[in-house]
Amino acid sequence: MSPLHLRAAGVSVLIAFRSGEAAIVHWGADLGADVPDLELLTDPIPHSAFDVPVVAGLLPQASSGWLGRPGLRGSRVIDGPGRDFSPAMRVVSATAADGLAEIVQQDADAGLQVTSRLVLHPSGLLEARNTLRNTGRGDYQLDQLAVVLPVPAHAAELLDLTGRWCRENHPQRQDIRRGTWVRTGRHGRTGHDSSLLFAAGSRGFGNRHGSVWGTHLAWSGDHELFFDALADGRHTIGAAELLGSGEVVLAPGEEYATPALYASFSAEGIDGVSARFHDWFRARPQHVDVDGVRPRPVVLNTWEAVYFDHRIEPLIELADAAAAIGVERFVLDDGWFRGRRDDTAGLGDWYVDEALWPEGLTPLIEAVTSRGMEFGLWVEPEMVNLDSDVVRSHPEWIVGPDARSLAEGGRLPLEWRHQHVIDLVNPEAWQYVFERLDHLLRENDISYLKWDQNRDLPEHGRDGRPSVHAQTLAAYRLFAALKQAHPGVEIESCSSGGARVDLGILEHTDRVWASDCNDALERQTIQRWTQAVLPPELVGAHVGPTHSHTTGRVHDIMFRVVTALFGHFGIEWDIRQASERERDVLRRGIETYKRFRGLIHSGRRVNADVVEPALSVHGVVGADEALFAVVMQATPVAEVTGRLRVPGLNADRTYRVAPLMPTVADFPRTTEGDAISPFVQIAGPRWFDEGLTSTGRFLAEVGLPMPVLRPEQAVLLHFARV
Ligand code: DGJ
Repeated sequence: MSPLHLRAAGVSVLIAFRSGEAAIVHWGADLGADVPDLELLTDPIPHSAFDVPVVAGLLPQASSGWLGRPGLRGSRVIDGPGRDFSPAMRVVSATAADGLAEIVQQDADAGLQVTSRLVLHPSGLLEARNTLRNTGRGDYQLDQLAVVLPVPAHAAELLDLTGRWCRENHPQRQDIRRGTWVRTGRHGRTGHDSSLLFAAGSRGFGNRHGSVWGTHLAWSGDHELFFDALADGRHTIGAAELLGSGEVVLAPGEEYATPALYASFSAEGIDGVSARFHDWFRARPQHVDVDGVRPRPVVLNTWEAVYFDHRIEPLIELADAAAAIGVERFVLDDGWFRGRRDDTAGLGDWYVDEALWPEGLTPLIEAVTSRGMEFGLWVEPEMVNLDSDVVRSHPEWIVGPDARSLAEGGRLPLEWRHQHVIDLVNPEAWQYVFERLDHLLRENDISYLKWDQNRDLPEHGRDGRPSVHAQTLAAYRLFAALKQAHPGVEIESCSSGGARVDLGILEHTDRVWASDCNDALERQTIQRWTQAVLPPELVGAHVGPTHSHTTGRVHDIMFRVVTALFGHFGIEWDIRQASERERDVLRRGIETYKRFRGLIHSGRRVNADVVEPALSVHGVVGADEALFAVVMQATPVAEVTGRLRVPGLNADRTYRVAPLMPTVADFPRTTEGDAISPFVQIAGPRWFDEGLTSTGRFLAEVGLPMPVLRPEQAVLLHFARV
């Protein structure tokens, strides 16, 4: 069979056929159309080894000498367990057209067939998935089906992300050593610690230099991501859904499809990896309208403003204050439904609380819409409290390890925030939740749902068997059905902050809540790494209270605003309590966001490689202008941190550069009211007062001296093409 070669946007994926198997020979930089005779590129056979060259197949298999993680694990029960444990798949058909390669491999004796689909999108992002079909006799119990890609031997380091509640998406780096690095998620959801980006790279790769092979698994349930560095020097990177025992058993003729593994290669560091993801997102038909009739509106979310205090008068005051500064969407968070006075009761009873809202939500919705804002509502459809009417009537709808229901004395899983998961695989439970949400959306003028999911569930089961797989698909169906019934309604994926941020959920939703932490300093890191995969328009970023509710830190309003600008901008704060200056800066921030959201939500995201550990420099570059934030995250080693070299601009163009926020005029001396100046200097560079005109080349190579910034402060710079 002749090799298959997919090429797009500087990327090649080259698939050869070896001993009847399909194998990716290259996923990386574009090779051009001309490749040598791959038949001659056989691997050597070393001493004390198999007598044939080992094939690192598209589906790595022991039958071809693969000693790393196999692509397929499972077996059938025929005269006892364990049959067909080691298939020998051989290609039966292979085609490539329009960026899609489809390869079918089969072991007729084992009764197994795997179809691999690889799509190389115009952005150069590779999407790969495998589908297993049981073509044999008897049931086949699937333990794992992975998607695996080769990474060349010159990859030397790994990067993955980890985190916890209020500290999602923090990077960790390590050298590649022999062995397997596995990141496992057993949360019953994606998880706060899940690695949104899992990458290998050349030695010392950075934001804008080095080769990087980055991956992401589009799945919102249990999963494994792995990097396999074999003793013989081969590297593979891959991912799979993590299945419970007996969770997927295929009857003859049945199929199981893996979630998609997205893979982005860049020869220009992590920013190049992100660019392919961002371009791919933006090319999707369902992508949010960023600069057309409905650009991403300024949000005010009520959570950190009022929590469960849902009296209508303060909420209308808040709506008044929000409208006065230019807010465009008002989102009523947790606390509006029957019995919900705190987090111990009410989940599952999706009826407007009659005691709190005797006339329903209409008076508040009308107050919001008459002030020119859209109305959004918080829901948590996949959850129930034991103290709820729905559980009192249907105790058998609770997900758990026991085949017996709560009413039959069954063991429940541990509670988490006093709540349990509702069994969406049960058609009646699914229908109940769908109808309640559908009714709410029909009866009320709601443009937006903040869809929350607030617990881990490692013992996710129904009828005594594991069920994360089926539940995840049932939840996706619920999102899809509601979207279909209410196409204009936008949905946010929230999960105790960022515990469900993945491309699976983003197929059905319009933005994510990256973290419950609104502390601007923490947000710098969380947003930077969430946006390593997601474009800024999909990442909610809110200005929080002066005193952060989750960390206790106090940040100046300028720093909070500049931080929230690089995302989908909003506010989560009782702005009735804001000082006059804070309200003025917030108003200015909203004007700035409205002026630049078209740029922020369509431009190229750029992260500079900076030597000073306390400093970060990031921005968005469009065709005619750019915005950059210079952020001092801690006290720098050097007081004067060196000139700011600005990457990503067009070298041959000329730009007018000026600070937008703060300017020196904002802080003429050291203190003013409750604001401490972000600058600590006798005099700043003159361009900072007067502006400057320069080529992109000069800005990238020589750079600009910067004012001396205090820690936990940032400056927003504007670059306009002249
Ligand atoms: C967790 C979310 O992340 C918060 O933003 C808020 O909506 C609360 N849940 C409400 O219970």
